[in-house]
Amino acid sequence: MAINSEKLPVHIGIIMDGNGRWAQNRGLPRAAGHKEGAEVFNRITKYCRKIGIRYVTYYAFSTENWKRPADEVNALMKLFEQYLGTAEQYAKDNVRLIFIGDKSRFPEKLRLKMEELEKKSENFDAMTVIMAMNYGGRDDIVRAAARAAALVRDRSITPEQIDESLISSLIYTGGIPDPDMIIRPGGEKRLSNFLTWQSAYSELYFTDVLWPDFTPKELDKALEEFAHRGRRFGGV
Ligand code: IPE
Ligand code: IPE
Ligand code: MG
Repeated sequence: MAINSEKLPVHIGIIMDGNGRWAQNRGLPRAAGHKEGAEVFNRITKYCRKIGIRYVTYYAFSTENWKRPADEVNALMKLFEQYLGTAEQYAKDNVRLIFIGDKSRFPEKLRLKMEELEKKSENFDAMTVIMAMNYGGRDDIVRAAARAAALVRDRSITPEQIDESLISSLIYTGGIPDPDMIIRPGGEKRLSNFLTWQSAYSELYFTDVLWPDFTPKELDKALEEFAHRGRRFGGV
């Protein structure tokens, strides 16, 4: 990898899309695509750690994905359970795990596992992997607004003290820098309710490669492009 480390994004968001089509293209059930996608998740995470990316947020399940047929949702829940069962492997790599989204809707076993992994890894600092599960960007903002309202109600703050930095601290990613780049494989050019507040100034990178076909080489292409983008944040 020939990319200047000064031009590396600190935080990358990845929308893991295209699993279903990958499977359908091969005459396989959609769940087979999710399984392959999970392998790619492991590969890309290891690669990101190796090249020195500090934070990676993966969109694994949106607040809208519950609309899918029950058998697909069930297959995804099973896969999450299996994967979280093997997530201890990240401990040896000193990788911190955080789950963003509303955990309460998941089966209890899964929810407890997420909490356990977060607790066990809270002091690991080589890299932080953030899994967006039952996550929605609008839901994130609504929750932050409700928390701000509660602070006003309790007289901890006045309404005038509600500002961007307060909201940034109350959303799920409070304390984590906003994503510098969001990558979406799978061909769609939209964010589908991913990191709505946090993506205000993210560089967007779309590719037709389906997530199960996404390789470290594809990530290099995105990083190469990122290194050449001029970020102005509204300045000149
Ligand atoms: C993304 O792949 C995985 C999840 C949403 C859980 P899809 O399942 O959306 O794959 P396509 O877009 O149908 O190919
Ligand atoms: C976004 O993909 C959600 C995840 C990848 C987890 P979708 O496949 O759900 O998005 P749409 O429906 O194409 O917008
Ligand atoms: Mg999709």
